[in-house]
Amino acid sequence: MDSQSQPPRRQRVLSGLRPTGNVHIGHLAGALENWIELQKKFECYFFIADWHALTTHYADTKNLQNDIRENVKDYLAAGLDPEQAVLFLQSRVPEHAELHLLLSLITPLGWLERVPTYKEQREQIRDKDLGTYGFLGYPVLQSADILMYKADYVPVGEDQVAHIELTREICRRFNSFYGSVFPEPQAMLTSAARLPGTDGRKMSKSYGNAIYLGDPEAAIREKVSNMLTDPARKRRSDPGNPDICPVFAYHKLFSPAATVEMVNVECRRAGIGCVEDKKLMTANLVQALAPIQERRRQYENRPQDVWNVLEEGSHKAKQTAEATMEQVRAGMNLKPGGTEKKTAE
Ligand code: TRP
Repeated sequence: MDSQSQPPRRQRVLSGLRPTGNVHIGHLAGALENWIELQKKFECYFFIADWHALTTHYADTKNLQNDIRENVKDYLAAGLDPEQAVLFLQSRVPEHAELHLLLSLITPLGWLERVPTYKEQREQIRDKDLGTYGFLGYPVLQSADILMYKADYVPVGEDQVAHIELTREICRRFNSFYGSVFPEPQAMLTSAARLPGTDGRKMSKSYGNAIYLGDPEAAIREKVSNMLTDPARKRRSDPGNPDICPVFAYHKLFSPAATVEMVNVECRRAGIGCVEDKKLMTANLVQALAPIQERRRQYENRPQDVWNVLEEGSHKAKQTAEATMEQVRAGMNLKPGGTEKKTAE
C-alpha cells in the first residue's frame, strides 16, 4: 500500500479545565462552546485537571469528587459528546505523573520562575501557601498533559498562552536530548470575548457574580434583575451605553441578532429601559439554557453514568498515553535491558 492511500491522521486537540464545582455561563461562552465545535472536526481529548486543582487547593480536598462529578454533568449537558471526544480524568491516567517527573528533570528553574501566572498568583493569593514544589511545577504538569497526546492544538484563553509557550520550549529541549518524540503544540485562542459577571467584573465563583448552567429559572431572574447596567443611566429617561453594559454582553450571546440590534439602538436613545431590557434578555437566556438543563436533569439521578463516561474516556486516553510513554522511555534509555549501544573500541 502506498503512503498516499493512508488517510492522514486527524489533527489532535487537547484541553483541560480544573474542576471548579459548578460550570457557569462564562465557561460556556469561553471554552465549552468552542470545544463542542472542535469535537466535530478534530480528534479531541478533553480532561478534568484534578491534580492541577490540588496544586492550589491541596489543604482541603473534601469537595473534590463532588466537584468533578458536577463538572462532568455540566459538560455533558452542554454538549460534549463522549462518542466524539475522549473525556477523561487526569488522575486516572497516572502516566501524566511519570511524564511530569521526566520533564521536570530537564526544565530549568528559571523558566518556571519567570512564568507570569506564577509570579502573579504568588503575590495575589494570600490565603494559601503557594510556596510549594508542586505549584512551581504547575506548567510542567500542564506540558506533560499536552505532550502526552502529541496535541497539535491547545484551545485556551489568553491567560494560558505563557504555559503553552513553556510547553513548546520543554518540547524542543526534550527532542534535542532524546530524539524527536513530540510535535510542537500550538495555542488556539478562544475568540469569544470574556463574559462579564453580573456585577461587571470577571465572572467567578469567588466573586459571587456567576450564573450557573444548572441555575433554576427563578434564580436566573433574580440574578439578572440585580445586574449592573451602565452606571451613568440613573433614570429611565437617560440614554445608555450598551458597550459598557453587562446585560448587553449577554444579549450578544443569547439573544437573536434582531433583538441585539434593537437594544443597541433603543438603549442609546432611552427607547427601552433597563428593567424591560433585562426581562427580554432573561427570556432568551432561559431559553438558551433550557436544553442544557433538560440534559443535565437526565444525569441528576444517574451519577454512576457520569463516572462511567470518565472511566471509559480515561481508559482510551491511557492507551494513547502508554504508547507515548513507550517512546519516551525508549528515547531516554529507561527500558530495562534496552538497546545495547555498541561502544567504540
Ligand atoms: N491550566 C489550565 C487552566 O487553568 C488547565 C489545564 C491543565 C490545561 N492542563 C492543561 C489546559 C492542558 C490546556 C492543556 O485553565
